[in-house]
Amino acid sequence: PRLRKIFSLDDFETRAKRLLPRAIFGYVSGGTETDSSLRANREAYHSIGFRPRILRDVSGRSLQTGFLGNSYSVPFGIAPMGFSAVAAFDGDVVLARGAAAAGSFAICSAASLTPLERVAKDAGSTWFQAYIPGDRERIAGLLQRVEAAGFRHLVVTGDVPVASNRENNARNGFDAPFRITPQLIWQGVTHPRWSIGTLGREIASRGMPHFENMESVQGPPLFSRDLVRSTIARDKLSWDDIAFIRDRWKGKLLVKGIIHPDDAKLAARHGCDAIILSNHGGRQLDGTISPLCFLPEFRKAVPDMSIIFDGGIRRGTDALKALVLGADFVLVGRPFLYAAATYGLAGVGHAMTLLSEEIDRDMALLGVRSIRELRELGPDCLHPAPA
Ligand code: FNR
Repeated sequence: PRLRKIFSLDDFETRAKRLLPRAIFGYVSGGTETDSSLRANREAYHSIGFRPRILRDVSGRSLQTGFLGNSYSVPFGIAPMGFSAVAAFDGDVVLARGAAAAGSFAICSAASLTPLERVAKDAGSTWFQAYIPGDRERIAGLLQRVEAAGFRHLVVTGDVPVASNRENNARNGFDAPFRITPQLIWQGVTHPRWSIGTLGREIASRGMPHFENMESVQGPPLFSRDLVRSTIARDKLSWDDIAFIRDRWKGKLLVKGIIHPDDAKLAARHGCDAIILSNHGGRQLDGTISPLCFLPEFRKAVPDMSIIFDGGIRRGTDALKALVLGADFVLVGRPFLYAAATYGLAGVGHAMTLLSEEIDRDMALLGVRSIRELRELGPDCLHPAPA
């Protein structure tokens, strides 16, 4: 019933900000350094507007869409988010279940605090995002584990050769691996609903939150302000490793974090099935552009590849702009984690419904009945918005 007051995805953020200690909310909401990419992701949507068509029969609409041989009820899914369980109790499972119930999927993060086997078993998830370990033997071991658990889609995130400079985490007392810092103790006292309902329950059921699918970070915490020492042994990863993975992984292979069209071509050349255009939600190299406006360039660079897009999608209209410009599917991150943090599975379900309803309504207002018709309309229904 409390969900009746949640009218848009942004409403979840407002609630989450009240519920979560500053360290946790800051970890989820934050970007890096000046937050310039975080802002760019939102501004990209404002820089283009619609030129809707009218008086076209738009009855009997459907949001159904497909890529990589799968069919989904909606053209969006949930992006991989590490540490979900410190923001939302059992977050990884809740996100995957909520997405599946709406006919979509959530990608389980390598940096999850839930064993990947449980996410596969309890939520029927087939999407796993990997942070690739430093040597071949361990890569092969990880692939075996992911396959044995039942995952069929492997997303290799390529934009984290080193941890980025997340100053807000250092300031607020958020660390990876998770530890209870003096700041967090104080914030926990003033946020009892989170301390008991989320962290307390998490510790009671699985012990102190820790990485389950990634070897523990060597040395100092990941978000240490000491940039050199916080390097996490992934800085050797290269396209050669993607070729190595391709040889051993039978399922679908995707690379996430692509911003340059030449990297899209390299992904194609290395046998990837799809790419995820993303600047990591503005959380890696600060100043990285939003690839939204360059989607047509990617479409041309890799015409036969599925293209997934993420970053800053908060409204149905945002998703539609990405789909019109050439994305086959989009991912949404933070809003779903806020939904899981505030209202659990019901919250994720409500968020899925809100975004689906917006897309459906916006499609009608734009003059299309299906995602296919939207693609047929193409970029002609968009126009640069006056500054
Ligand atoms: C992320 N993101 C991310 N990406 C990834 O490949 N592996 C990961 O473990 C994480 N972890 C993570 C944690 C949190 C709290 C956030 C907010 C994001 C990036 C994520 O998959 C996605 O690219 C962005 O979140 C999309 O942007 P929006 O929708 O959050 O604006």
